[in-house]
Amino acid sequence: MLLTGLLASDIATCEWHVGMPLAPLYDVEARSVRSAVDCRRQEFQAGRTCARHAFMALGLQPQPIPVGPDRAPIWPPGFTGSISHSKTYCVAAVGRCSPHLASIGVDIECDDAVEPALASEICLPQERDWIERQPPIDQRRLLTAIFSAKECVYKCQYGLTGTLLGFEALSIELNPDSGVFSAVFQRPLPPFSNAGRLVGRFRFVHGHVVTAMILPLSNPTLLV
Ligand SMILES: CC(C)(COP(=O)(O)OP(=O)(O)OC[C@H]1O[C@@H](n2cnc3c(N)ncnc32)[C@H](O)[C@@H]1OP(=O)(O)O)[C@@H](O)C(=O)NCCC(=O)NCCS
Repeated sequence: MLLTGLLASDIATCEWHVGMPLAPLYDVEARSVRSAVDCRRQEFQAGRTCARHAFMALGLQPQPIPVGPDRAPIWPPGFTGSISHSKTYCVAAVGRCSPHLASIGVDIECDDAVEPALASEICLPQERDWIERQPPIDQRRLLTAIFSAKECVYKCQYGLTGTLLGFEALSIELNPDSGVFSAVFQRPLPPFSNAGRLVGRFRFVHGHVVTAMILPLSNPTLLV
């Protein structure tokens, strides 16, 4: 499984692969993609399909997940989650909100998704220096992993801050041996302090990089 081992066991995860059946959309969901192109409708429906299965894994009935004005999913009261898709896969994670769980972030990317020419837009100087010190054969997928980690942290923090971030807002450190990444905000973003370190996990699997993290309700910077 793509997300196996990346999140705590009380968080339900589900994955979908192109060609697998899709669950029907609720009206409130279908309205959001009524005028979308086919591939966008399919990825949206795949995300809702995964989320339905994750709810069922938690012992709950499937529930609608409308789209917020900011495109973030609106999770049912008392629950939080995250969705990501690549061209061939979709993943979702859903958990019950608690003091230990306020927000979830997941992201999946084809492991060659990011062109090296985009490194200067995505990476801070220290991230580029680190990539350049890695074996050339690994550099593109590590660049993609840094991109994925930033997207994952972005989705996870958004539920708490409602803030749009640029790539320069976060510094990512990957540890390929342990599969742990850390993210440091480059400026204060309440409730996070700058230099506060958030921790997530990543893995390379089936030609993709997958990243995942959670944030608790309190002390969101004390996750090391
Ligand atoms: C939201 C965003 C991260 C999605 O990334 P993506 O690679 O296009 O697509 P993914 O498949 O990984 O994720 C898309 C899903 O993220 C979720 N999503 C969208 N906006 C979100 C938000 N603000 N907060 C949390 N989740 C969000 C949705 O579930 C969406 O799928 P859906 O529309 O089918 O429901 C990206 O489009 C974006 O807006 N980025 C903001 C700028 C940025 O990346 N900054 C760098 C981070 S520091």
